[in-house]
Amino acid sequence: MTTTLTSATHTFPQGFLWGGAFAAHQMEGAWDEGGKGLSVTDISALRKDVPIEKRMQGELTRAQIRHAIDNAEGYVFPKRWGIDFYHTYASDLALLGREGLGLSALRTSINWARIFPNGDDEQPCEEGLAFYDRLIDAMVAQGMEPFMTVSHYEMPMNLALSYGGWHNRRTIDFFCRYCQVLFDRYHDRVKHWILINQINMVAHEGFNHLGVPLDETSDPLSARYQALHNEMVGCALATKYAHETYPDLQIGVMEYADLAYPATAAPDDVMATYRRNQMELLPADVLVQGRYPGYALRFFEDRGITVVAEDGDLEALATHTADFVCFSYYLTQVCNAESAAQEQGGHDTFQNPLLEANPWGWAIDPVGLRWTLNVFWDRYHKPLYIVENGCGYLEEPGEDGIVHDPYRVRYFRDHIAQMREAVADGVDVRGYFAWGAMDIVSASSCEMSKRYGFIHVDQDDWGHGSGTRTPKESYAWMQRVIKSNGTEL
Ligand code: BG6
Repeated sequence: MTTTLTSATHTFPQGFLWGGAFAAHQMEGAWDEGGKGLSVTDISALRKDVPIEKRMQGELTRAQIRHAIDNAEGYVFPKRWGIDFYHTYASDLALLGREGLGLSALRTSINWARIFPNGDDEQPCEEGLAFYDRLIDAMVAQGMEPFMTVSHYEMPMNLALSYGGWHNRRTIDFFCRYCQVLFDRYHDRVKHWILINQINMVAHEGFNHLGVPLDETSDPLSARYQALHNEMVGCALATKYAHETYPDLQIGVMEYADLAYPATAAPDDVMATYRRNQMELLPADVLVQGRYPGYALRFFEDRGITVVAEDGDLEALATHTADFVCFSYYLTQVCNAESAAQEQGGHDTFQNPLLEANPWGWAIDPVGLRWTLNVFWDRYHKPLYIVENGCGYLEEPGEDGIVHDPYRVRYFRDHIAQMREAVADGVDVRGYFAWGAMDIVSASSCEMSKRYGFIHVDQDDWGHGSGTRTPKESYAWMQRVIKSNGTEL
């Protein structure tokens, strides 16, 4: 008996999930309805007065946070109204699910501040829980498997201001309690849980991800890595509860896939880029492999970063590891020895001169997706899901009222084709989720005009417009892709 060694398949497996992905704070609106508390992202302000590539919410000190809360009239906070999905979800899901686009899965987050308005409340908010009951039921009714994110920049503000966010170990308990409430309530309908959105974005996202004000300590870098450590322990303990209580739940670790190419073949550039990429993979390494890798300990030592593990932390990380790995994929970057020597935080890489970019400077690199999939598969050998992919464009409807978006079709065609190459490479990728399948407010810049969707939402950066949803030209194309399980591109 002989076996010819050849690639197993060049098509997507049966049951491959075609999904859309969102986050509560970018679409729900209703920021002060349903018993919801203030979350850290509710003070993310629109900044149209600064250059397009600098509109990302920066780090905030306690005084700046208070100022934003107290002087709200001077600011515009588009995430507070989102696209009003809190009220329109039923008709929106009909456009996305089996009656419309045909998605077989949908990822969104549960807004932490809807369930525990202050984070440290004795009891969860029943109105918040009931909203997600209705939402999840509606997703299932539309034939979409729910993938729920537990924490996607929606930490209750009180945890940031009264405790210093994840820098404080008490947040581990508050987070675990929150996870338990969610698992207990939704375990019958939600099998896939992503605990933290883009957990590796530590250098860029001290406040809106970790809830750590910039001046929480005099050593912000140590504070962030300590906060990441606490967050990972929180993930391990939540995974323990899920595995012991509901063995069929799948708990995922999610990364922002942010791999960089070395700028040259100079060994110093290659080594520096390799190191930099290792640090980007740190949380998945810890949460899948169950231990801190040596390169991270060396990174801490070289930079004078202090991270303390309490008794039991390392055992928890070693024992309660993730079931699947998922990532967002938008771009690749370039790194060299000089840039890597900068503190991580956007300065350790630069743009690839060989690639086109969107107006916000995000490079378009379909081959990079195949590379990323192979890197994640070789490293983790866990089921993979691409839980965000897409590109933000500036666009307007034509005279016929329809957005004609051949660039979006090209973008998705090229990326899906490269994902199919990765399948032929032997990568076990089980689902692909298009970011913002319907236009929503941008996470980084709070703009509505950075549009990702197959469905146009008639609303501008200031919240003006009818809110009408209209499928774009790419909608029908994507419908065919999904129906053909990715064979008709
Ligand atoms: C990811 C986030 O970083 O990128 C999403 O998980 C975000 O929340 C997406 O929306 C795209 O970024 P942006 O800033 O263009 O909305």
